[in-house]
Amino acid sequence: MEHNKSGRRSFLGKIAIAGAAGLMPGRLTAATQAANRPPRRAGMQFLTPPYLQHITSSSAVIRWITNEPASSWVEYGEEATGNKALPAANLGLLAANDRVHEVTITGLKPGTKYMYRVCSRQIVEFQPYLMTWGEVMNSEVFHFTTVNPAAKEVSWLVLNDIHDRPASFEQLLKLNGGDPYEFVFLNGDMFDFQTDEQQIIDHLLTPVTSAFASEKPFMYARGNHETRGKYARQFPDYFNNPGNQYYFSFTQGPVHFIVLDTGEDKADDHAEYSQLVAFDAYREQQARWLETALQQPAFLKAPFRVVMMHIPVFHSGEGHGSLHCRELFNPLFNKAGIDLMICGHTHRYGVHAPDKATHNYPLIIGGGPKEGRRTLIKVKTDRKQLQLQMLGDDGSEVGRYEVRSKR
Ligand SMILES: [Fe+2]
Repeated sequence: MEHNKSGRRSFLGKIAIAGAAGLMPGRLTAATQAANRPPRRAGMQFLTPPYLQHITSSSAVIRWITNEPASSWVEYGEEATGNKALPAANLGLLAANDRVHEVTITGLKPGTKYMYRVCSRQIVEFQPYLMTWGEVMNSEVFHFTTVNPAAKEVSWLVLNDIHDRPASFEQLLKLNGGDPYEFVFLNGDMFDFQTDEQQIIDHLLTPVTSAFASEKPFMYARGNHETRGKYARQFPDYFNNPGNQYYFSFTQGPVHFIVLDTGEDKADDHAEYSQLVAFDAYREQQARWLETALQQPAFLKAPFRVVMMHIPVFHSGEGHGSLHCRELFNPLFNKAGIDLMICGHTHRYGVHAPDKATHNYPLIIGGGPKEGRRTLIKVKTDRKQLQLQMLGDDGSEVGRYEVRSKR
């Protein structure tokens, strides 16, 4: 695991004054920006180091947050940061005047290491015909590597059910030792409920960037707790999965991944949700998508088919969310044939072997969130074999499963 701790410590205080400016869009609504603006401080600051989101063989999504509205861009290259990537335009306008920044670098070479830094120029006053610019801040230089579509191997780590315990990120990730991995998968319930941006920074973005996220991406499947709280509806403003969806598929190395957003664990009309959720329809929408996804050549041809989702279809009680997932998704998985499912939610780690009467695939559940129940799941594959190891938070092995490719 690569650590950027020393880099990060100096990152927040490091402000370089430079020249250029880039304009950019952002996906935050004006209401979100206004409601969520932190107290005014002296000067511009990065509230987070950059964090990597979806990386493909030709592109990389990079995000970061500043305390003041800015226009932002990324400088990058193989040998030097000589290229400049601007944020996306919407209806002809490059995103600007936001604090939560998102830039997608395109046109990259596959399997290639790039260096990059993020840059933000403060917008002090945005008048129709007169812009008052503040200083430009540049981050330190970090690196990322694009996906190699011909890769014969892939390794990843899984965390689930952290539940607002930010120290758990470092404590669990350090159990990986120096083993290589390409990305970290956050498999739901990183929080108890969503309160505000400061919680997202303090309880997720700060610990993950300290550990890995400026140099390796993370992907995120929502749990039933990311859907709760007054800030749950702003959650997508901070994270990008492939296709900007919370259910999606992608191939990396010999593995084709299917990711589902299993929603809430109780019925939509439960009093807890105040008549403000519609997860039955959302799961049904995903089931329709899943039927098609399971027929795609990328799924059919991959040496391994792996499903990642928060609520398990079995071994998780008989709550509505679990039963609805079982009814909608499990017949499709049993029929299509998947090699592995990785879930969380129950707080009881377990390795559940295939069982013809229920799920004909291995179902692994990561634990958490209390000490003694937390897990780090490590998966590594080549074209012939998938090896999963689950470590308890004392470093001991609490689960293992191996699958040989059927294709
Ligand atoms: Fe959960």
